[in-house]
This record gives sequence, structure tokens and C-alpha cells, in this order.
Amino acid sequence: MADLIAEIHALEQKAAQAIAAAADAEALQSASQDFVGKKGALTNVMKQLGTLSAEERGAVGKAANEFKTKLEALLTTKESQLRESKYASLGETEFVDMSVTPAEFAATPSGAVASGHIHAISRTQKQLEEIFTSMGFSIVDGPQVEDDYHNFGALNFTDDHPARDMQDTFYTKTGHLLRTHTSTIQIRALERMKPPLRIIAPGRVFRYEEVDASHEHTFYQMEGMIVDRKISVGNLLHLMQTLLTTIFGKEVDVRLRPGYFPFVEPGFELDMKCLVCSGTGCPVCKHSGWVEVLPCGLVHPNVLKSAGLDPNEWQGAAFGLGLNRLVMMQHGIEDIRHFMAGKLDFLRQF
Ligand code: DAH
Repeated sequence: MADLIAEIHALEQKAAQAIAAAADAEALQSASQDFVGKKGALTNVMKQLGTLSAEERGAVGKAANEFKTKLEALLTTKESQLRESKYASLGETEFVDMSVTPAEFAATPSGAVASGHIHAISRTQKQLEEIFTSMGFSIVDGPQVEDDYHNFGALNFTDDHPARDMQDTFYTKTGHLLRTHTSTIQIRALERMKPPLRIIAPGRVFRYEEVDASHEHTFYQMEGMIVDRKISVGNLLHLMQTLLTTIFGKEVDVRLRPGYFPFVEPGFELDMKCLVCSGTGCPVCKHSGWVEVLPCGLVHPNVLKSAGLDPNEWQGAAFGLGLNRLVMMQHGIEDIRHFMAGKLDFLRQF
């Protein structure tokens, strides 16, 4: 009996050493198994209990229980030590240095860290979205890769209309095209929404075009359309005026002339006095003093019909704002190519 109790005491020492040496939770777990697990050292000792008297068994059992209690206390303490040191070292292993290096600091003129900002076109687009949503318009979108039907057919372009010419349009090998205007979204909206409706649709458009100071192959438009009962040119002009005075914060000189677009009747060109040259003539206004910014009109009955609407019941007004040109007028930008040139010196001005 005394032997067994001595063995248990010896185990106690070994266990204490093993636990102290455990470097992580796994090592600790296996140390505990070595002593009190099913095949552990204590189990082996207890197997010899059968040779003892009941009294002796009691004494050895007591020693074994004391051993277990001590072991548990040691395990718990060690466990929490391990956990603490793990979290303490996290601060070092997961540390990310977010401070600015002296070189980065010196690279900015004011010593401040340069931050990005919203592109001039996006900013004006957002302003317009706010104006129009406050007037009950919803913002809708459509795909940039389109089909002939949405870009031309449903917009009342005849099959031989010059705008379908390969000169103006980028076609894909699969028979699709890059939308040449946001008017496609008029059709997309009419397919999805029931009148009365008011929508704006800002987006990127593409033309296979000779690039110069006032023409880009990729630019931005914002389409607008209202469809309701009894829409007239008066509604249209009111919209146009609200738009321009809000954007420019003052009355701007505009002129309205007839313009031809297959999907409106009547159609108009709304020009504004060139703000780059104050009307004296420059490359942006092609030396005419006026810039076309806002073509518009009343939705052609054929467009309404292609959407299944009765033109006697429903009428529409629409406009297709040239966002790049509008922004050029806002800031006196003299070349449309600046927008896509990716030059930070240009972008940082706005
Ligand atoms: N989609 C035409 C273009 O890009 C512009 C346009 C003209 C849009 C008249 C309209 C409109 O909504 O009514 O040239």
C-alpha cells in the first residue's frame, strides 16, 4: 500500500513538471492524458488496487483523488497562463504599422497625406441625382453592351438611319453593340415600369468617333424621361430650366432650336452660351459661342407604342444631357480629353 501511495506522490511531481513544460494547449492536453487519461499513469496504479484490503484501498483511493484535484488545479492555472500569453503576443504578431513613413510625408507639399476625392463628373452627376430625386424621379440603369433593338429599333430609328452606320457605333463580334446613348434606358424603363413615371439614367456611352477637344469615344450622359397624361413642351422647358439654374446657381443664357432625333417629336437642341470663352468662340464651342448640352423633346408616339402604351392616353418628355460638356461649362475645361487622360494634376483641380 505504501508503495502505491509513494508512486502516486512521484506521479504528482512528474505531472507538475510536465504541466509546467507544456508550451501550448495541445501539449497541456496530452500531458493531462498521460497522467489521468484512460491509459494514463494513474490508471495503471489503480489497477493494482485489487491486491489490497478494503482499508488500504481507501487510503490509496484518497491519495489518488487528492492527486486528481491537484492536477486539475495545475491544469486550470496553466491553461489561463497559456491563454494570456497568447493574447499578449498577438499585439506583436498581428501588429500593422500604419504610420506614415518620412518619405511619404515629405512627398505631399503641405506635409499632409494626400487623400482621393470624387471625380468632377461624378460630383455633378450626384448633384443632378439629388435635384431629380427631390422632384420624385427614380434613378434607373441599363447595360452598356446593348442590342440593336434597345439602342435603335425601339427608339424609332429607321433601318437606314445614318446613326446606325458603322462609323458611329462600336459593334461586338456577337452582334451586340456598345450603347451610343443613354436613351436605351428609356426603353428598359418602359419595359419594367408602368406610367406615370419619372426617371433619370446617368451612364457611360460610347461612339466610334474621331477624338478632338469636344469629342470623345467614351463619355457620360444623363437621360431623363417623364411619362404621364397631358405632358407638353411647357413641362419639358420647366424641367430644363430647373436643371440648369440649379447646377449653375444662376440664370444661364440658353437658346432652343429645333433638333431632329427619331425618338422625339418635336425635338429640340438646347444650347447654352459657352462658358469657356463667354461666347466669343473657342474650340469647345467650335467657335460658334454656343454649346449643345441638352437635346430634348416630346417622346415620339412610336416609342410609346413599342412599349405597349396608347399615345392618346400617355405622353412623354425626355432629355439627354451631355454630362462631360456640362462639367466643362461648370469649370471652364477646354478639352474633353482631359477627363479620361488619368492626369492627376488635372483631376486634383476639381
Ligand atoms: N440620345 C441623344 C444623343 O445621344 C440625345 C437625346 C436627344 C436624348 C433628345 C433625348 C432626347 O432623350 O429627347 O444624341
